[in-house]
Amino acid sequence: MLCPVKILGIVVVLGVSVQGVVHQVSTVSQLKNALSSVNPGDIIRLAAGTYKAGLNSDRNGTATNPIIMEGPADAILTNTNYAFHLLGSYWILRGFTAANGKKGIVVDYGGHNILENLTVRDLEEEGIHFRFFSSDNIVRNCKVYNTGTKRPGYGEGIYIGQDRGKWVNNQPDKCDRIQIINNTIGPNCAGEGIDIKEGTCCGLIKGNYFDGHGLSDVNSDDSWVDVKGDSYIVEDNRGYWTLEDGFQVRDHMPVDSGIVSGCNNVFRRNHCDMYASGYCIYFANKGKCASNTVEDSNTLTNGGQMTNL
Ligand SMILES: *[C@@H]1O[C@H](CO)[C@@H](O)[C@H](O)[C@H]1NC(C)=O
Ligand SMILES: *[C@@H]1O[C@H](CO)[C@@H](O)[C@H](O)[C@H]1NC(C)=O
Ligand SMILES: *[C@@H]1O[C@H](CO)[C@@H](O)[C@H](O)[C@H]1NC(C)=O
Repeated sequence: MLCPVKILGIVVVLGVSVQGVVHQVSTVSQLKNALSSVNPGDIIRLAAGTYKAGLNSDRNGTATNPIIMEGPADAILTNTNYAFHLLGSYWILRGFTAANGKKGIVVDYGGHNILENLTVRDLEEEGIHFRFFSSDNIVRNCKVYNTGTKRPGYGEGIYIGQDRGKWVNNQPDKCDRIQIINNTIGPNCAGEGIDIKEGTCCGLIKGNYFDGHGLSDVNSDDSWVDVKGDSYIVEDNRGYWTLEDGFQVRDHMPVDSGIVSGCNNVFRRNHCDMYASGYCIYFANKGKCASNTVEDSNTLTNGGQMTNL
């Protein structure tokens, strides 16, 4: 019987090196063992193949010695529920694919994780979801497409936070300072490409490419990005084809809460290639908060109008 090969590797992160264990895995049981025992500085290397199980980990790396899980795009994590459920912090997830399940990668109670160069596709619901106070995470250079294949109103590509209906004790699910950079999102994300929930703030949505073909129009899924959070910077994104608008900003708090969401956001250097009659940047909460900004550097082609602000 093959045993996981553990090699002492030198991990160099931010100039600090530690002896980390390299877990070379090629079966579900090897991967499960690795996920339950990894320590800061360790690397899990996935061989090509399909790993179908309830894969999860609550281990933590550290700022200087993250835990790395990496593999080629043909290392595929899948499951009938979540392909991978991360409940830890300071991980780097790199290169592999999460596909063919209900949700792709779900991060709960996890901060300072980096998801990069992943392929996330063919999922019944959302592709990547940050929930339960998961702040300071980064998603970069990933491809996310074919999400919401079963429940179109629940098929966002990338989802930050939770609807206030799911908040614990009515407290905002603060998933703050999340950065979504240089990803290709769509086609066939039946929910929005990125859904930013009320109660979250201070993130960066930069350099992404959205293909809106396959938006569902269920649950107002008719734009590339929905911003219900506050103080986001949305810049250098390009969108191609939409149902109605490019970027939508909305208040999703009840009137009697006295709180308005979707405020203090900045839009600049985005390009909307619309093929639709709506707005590149539409404010459904116009007049409720004066502090949103659309800079002149945004551009528009193929129909629509720039903004209603
Ligand atoms: C990971 O860190 C969190 C937050 O500090 C902590 O609650 C959790 O117990 C840690 N996980 C493990 C396996 O120690
Ligand atoms: C990203 O993943 C692809 C496919 O596995 C690989 O060929 C490429 O080298 C990776 N790029 C980076 C920057 O890691
Ligand atoms: C995003 O892409 C731009 C343009 O190619 C590049 O300059 C920048 O370093 C990238 N950022 C990240 C975080 O990958």
